[in-house]
Amino acid sequence: MNPAFRFTLEARDGRARSGRLATTRGEIRTPAFMPVGTAATVKAMLPESVAATGADILLGNTYHLMLRPGAEQIAALGGLHRFMNWGGPILTDSGGYQVMSLTDLRKMTEDGVRFRSHIDGSEHWLTPERSMEIQRLLGSDIVMAFDECTPFPCTREQAAASMRLSMRWAERSKAAFGAPERQALFGIQQGSTHPALRQESADRLREIGFDGYAIGGLAVGEGQAVMFEVLDFAPDMLPEDRPRYLMGVGKPADLLGAVARGVDMFDCVLPTRSGRTGQAFTRRGVVNIKNARHAADPRPLDADCTCPACAGYSRAYLHHVFKAGEIVSSMLLSWHNLHYYQELMAGIRRAIGAGGLAGFAEATQARWAAGDI
Ligand code: GUN
Ligand code: ZN
Repeated sequence: MNPAFRFTLEARDGRARSGRLATTRGEIRTPAFMPVGTAATVKAMLPESVAATGADILLGNTYHLMLRPGAEQIAALGGLHRFMNWGGPILTDSGGYQVMSLTDLRKMTEDGVRFRSHIDGSEHWLTPERSMEIQRLLGSDIVMAFDECTPFPCTREQAAASMRLSMRWAERSKAAFGAPERQALFGIQQGSTHPALRQESADRLREIGFDGYAIGGLAVGEGQAVMFEVLDFAPDMLPEDRPRYLMGVGKPADLLGAVARGVDMFDCVLPTRSGRTGQAFTRRGVVNIKNARHAADPRPLDADCTCPACAGYSRAYLHHVFKAGEIVSSMLLSWHNLHYYQELMAGIRRAIGAGGLAGFAEATQARWAAGDI
């Protein structure tokens, strides 16, 4: 493994693991949740506020940054960390997933993907080589291999062909990545819901050799039950001594279930996106601040939460600023949600350390089910 990236497992509880991933920009406590900072910002948050929620690492996106302001531009300005004023580790996704989900005009070949920008319609190419170059220019700490996120549902033949293309791209990603001193490269397992395809993908990735391994192609519409069925076997196929990252997941209950199945890292837009649409995740489940029942409620969103939204403001105020379309509504609810996610991850890590993850998960889920009062 790249000596700048040391993954140390500290505790196990069933298939769950807790540990630390050391990078040259700081340590990531695992299981970890990475807030999404797509366009060089975690929407409605300042970087110091994101750090205050307890986040150790952010996610950025090759696709968005290559289109605007451009990878060469960010490199000329000192790299993504300096550009967005975040000194901690950054993981960048490789672009293929965003091309598929955000553009309508695109053409995929063995070489890569040609697509039109969702911003101005201009034409661009992404290949494994160009994705590696962009992520090198951005200077992210963890670089993701270029892959295709296999859509769901699809036939077994489509899943196999898509996975094998991603494995050829994984090999080209590794070759183009080279051996930089301050960056790690993660491979991405595909194979949809098929155990044999997931195994073939894991074997191929292990042969190529990566610093960490992601599980891709999940949370694409298959639902939690099917995702958990895949997670019953997929993480165990990946090397035990490397971090395992489940891409694009998820709801708090997804995080609990995936950690119990051996996942170490997550990213998701849910806490920030929900914050902007008036949804708050709390110890007592989801609260919709737009609901009229909060209009005159002097209590905080979550009495046990120490975030600024809960420490300083009533539900009535949060309801009012949401209804009024005030920017501070997005700021406060995003902060609360990110704080809640990081508290959940901290609780998960403590529970694994104490050998009590199952009990922690049960108690947490019972509180969500009891509901808001
Ligand atoms: N984000 C969510 N799922 C995926 C995936 O399968 N591949 C990539 N690159 N990013 C993702
Ligand atoms: Zn709060």
